[in-house]
Amino acid sequence: MKVLGIETSCDETGIAIYDSDRGLLSHKLHSQVEIHADYGGVVPEIASRDHVRKWVTLTRTCAAEAGIELNQLDAVAYTAGPGLAGALFTGAVAGRALAWQLGIRALGVHHMEGHLLAPMLESPAPAFPFVCLLVSGGHSQLVKVDSVGCYELLGDTLDDAVGEAFDKTAKMLGLGYPGGPALAKAAASGSPERFLFPRPMAKSDDLNFSFSGLKTAAITAFEKTGRDPAAVNDIAAGFEVAAVEALAIKCSKALQQENMKTLVVAGGVAANTKLRSLLKETMQKIDGELYFPRLEFCTDNGAMIAYAGAFRLLAGENSGVEIAVRPRWPLDEMAAPG
Ligand code: KG4
Ligand code: ZN
Repeated sequence: MKVLGIETSCDETGIAIYDSDRGLLSHKLHSQVEIHADYGGVVPEIASRDHVRKWVTLTRTCAAEAGIELNQLDAVAYTAGPGLAGALFTGAVAGRALAWQLGIRALGVHHMEGHLLAPMLESPAPAFPFVCLLVSGGHSQLVKVDSVGCYELLGDTLDDAVGEAFDKTAKMLGLGYPGGPALAKAAASGSPERFLFPRPMAKSDDLNFSFSGLKTAAITAFEKTGRDPAAVNDIAAGFEVAAVEALAIKCSKALQQENMKTLVVAGGVAANTKLRSLLKETMQKIDGELYFPRLEFCTDNGAMIAYAGAFRLLAGENSGVEIAVRPRWPLDEMAAPG
């Protein structure tokens, strides 16, 4: 089955073609970073308009690179939520219109299920069951994954998601947008020992996260230096190490609690080098297995939507003709495919 994936939930237009027999045939991404940079963050209306402008060209390029005509597609999968309502609608309308024109099925896909399954596009792919750390701009969750669609939420953020905390802290430090990669870059030239920030929730018995206190601690430290530009890299380094250690501590606890040794990490923050190396060390200590998507499939992309969609389309799923999106859509409301 050849599935076209369309991702438009935020500030990236991602298109891909996944073949359930041959694997990923092509994928293309258009980032809107330059368009939103002047505003210091994503402007939803501008994001929607840009998705509308880009998706047709990206789709044509993907088909050409995959060596197929659009009428050889078997189905279309588009992100139906969670995300920005207007941006989601552009992908949903595009996906359903194309499917209607081609006389094929279309399916709305859960964006976080896409992230969670993205490591399956790699070789070797993780085997079920596993614990997944889902870390993005809107989510910091630990999920027990028994199979596709069988998700048990083990822990969640009580306030800011970790990506959101990276973004807000970066903005306050004058590092601009997108904040996560900018803060990580600044941190690479800083000393993590100069500013020692607490590891949030490290001592709590549950598997929840909280990052807003850490964000405030970093901003307060910056104010105390009189907003000294020379302190920025050190504060960034102190913030980054505290954030990733907090994530790693809860990953270890989750694996211990569930008596598991396989950890899967996905979502935009999974692209963070410090997090990747710390989790590698953590998993080596327990002789466990660790899986990440390749860097470009950590952040938003069309490949994960085509892949997650293919799984459910093969099981016979189909969205009704109504064009519906779910800007808020809890992952544990998902069910097994079919
Ligand atoms: O998954 P994603 O592309 O979009 C959402 O679904 O939210 O994740 C974006 C988030 C942003 O908060 C961004 O700052 C963060 O992932 N991010 C990073 C890095 N790359 C992206 N955070 C820390 N270090 C990075 N290298
Ligand atoms: Zn995402």
